[in-house]
Amino acid sequence: MSKILVTGGAGFIGSNFVRMLLNGSDHEVVNLDALTYAGNLENLTDVASNPRYTFVKGDIADSAQMDEAFAAHRPDLVVHFAAESHVDRSVLDATAFVRTNVQGTQVLLDKSRIYKTKRFVHVSTDEVYGSLGPWGFFTEDTPMQANSPYSASKAASDLLVRAAVHTHGMDCVITRCSNNYGPYQFPEKLIPLMIANALEGKHLPVYGDGKNVRDWIYVTDHCEGIRAAMERGQAGEVYNFGGNAERENIYVIKEILRLLGKGDNLIHYVKDRPGHDRRYAMDSSKARATLGWEPRHTFEQGLRQTLDWYVQNRSWWERVRSGAYQDYYKQQYASR
Ligand code: NAD
Ligand code: DAU
Repeated sequence: MSKILVTGGAGFIGSNFVRMLLNGSDHEVVNLDALTYAGNLENLTDVASNPRYTFVKGDIADSAQMDEAFAAHRPDLVVHFAAESHVDRSVLDATAFVRTNVQGTQVLLDKSRIYKTKRFVHVSTDEVYGSLGPWGFFTEDTPMQANSPYSASKAASDLLVRAAVHTHGMDCVITRCSNNYGPYQFPEKLIPLMIANALEGKHLPVYGDGKNVRDWIYVTDHCEGIRAAMERGQAGEVYNFGGNAERENIYVIKEILRLLGKGDNLIHYVKDRPGHDRRYAMDSSKARATLGWEPRHTFEQGLRQTLDWYVQNRSWWERVRSGAYQDYYKQQYASR
């Protein structure tokens, strides 16, 4: 049994990872999260009373706060999800992206070294590789060519992790994954936004010609990959994870409408995202060969499960959209 500090565990992927660890291992989990707009403790109500779970509110870019958290909890392992994650927000203002993704990662690396954490798992993204044309795949050796302020900040954080390995001999592993979807994804990202808008009869905004391609992976498949890298990855290595499910955005949107029994008249083409990457596609053969990992869900299975979840958990995303979810921390934790 290890004590695992999960940063950003109140977000989309982090909360799915925390749930996976609590339900499928005997590890202790410390969830450290600043509860930005993307952090939602209602993502974890089903596991929050587990005696192996602790929540700590903290900002990874605040060195004093992180020192206090590491001193109090002395984690064996750090799995680092916390980030500003939405490309559109980084186009509007990159300040928080540099602070959290770059500065915050360095603070965590420093504390992990000082407090002798055994392994640091850095959760990164395929977006650091830039954009592909119609053919080819990103491998772990593809040069980083980040195009958005978000992906540039993630690329910077990857390089800081690499530097910690080479300069300080730290045991770090970097994972890079393609587009996740599934339960508890904030309805600003493509799939949950389109589902929620369709369910409310609102327009579905399609950027540009709708033919940008993403490689979709069901969130628990990504979480299993991170766990495999945490347990079996080699120090200093990078592992790509993809869903083997490339789809044009317009295909995904039409499929959501079809499965929900809604008409294409809700589709609304809008101005393109500035610097919009055309295509991402992952070569995950290294993770398959060396970690024994592979995704369990086809896109069709994962999308069906995701739609069902958003239909059955309407109050979850309605509380996100109304802002009511932000009261949960105050009610449950702040008065303790
Ligand atoms: P998310 O936006 O849903 O969650 C981010 C979490 O980080 C939130 O809980 C937020 O409160 C927390 N956070 C933000 N700033 C913080 C700070 N300064 N201190 C502490 N906590 C802070 O993000 P996500 O989609 O779950 O992504 C998680 C990680 O996975 C990110 O590092 C992202 O780059 C990476 N990733 C995401 C995808 C994807 O498709 N969503 C794909 C590959 C990699
Ligand atoms: O590839 C991994 C990355 O995937 C992660 O690192 C990021 O954190 C995550 O946000 C995601 O980035 P994308 O920019 O690919 O995801 P997003 O859901 O914002 O957009 C997916 C595609 O859909 C993209 O081509 C833009 C398009 N889009 C998005 C939105 C929100 C639309 O056409 N309309 C929309 O309203």
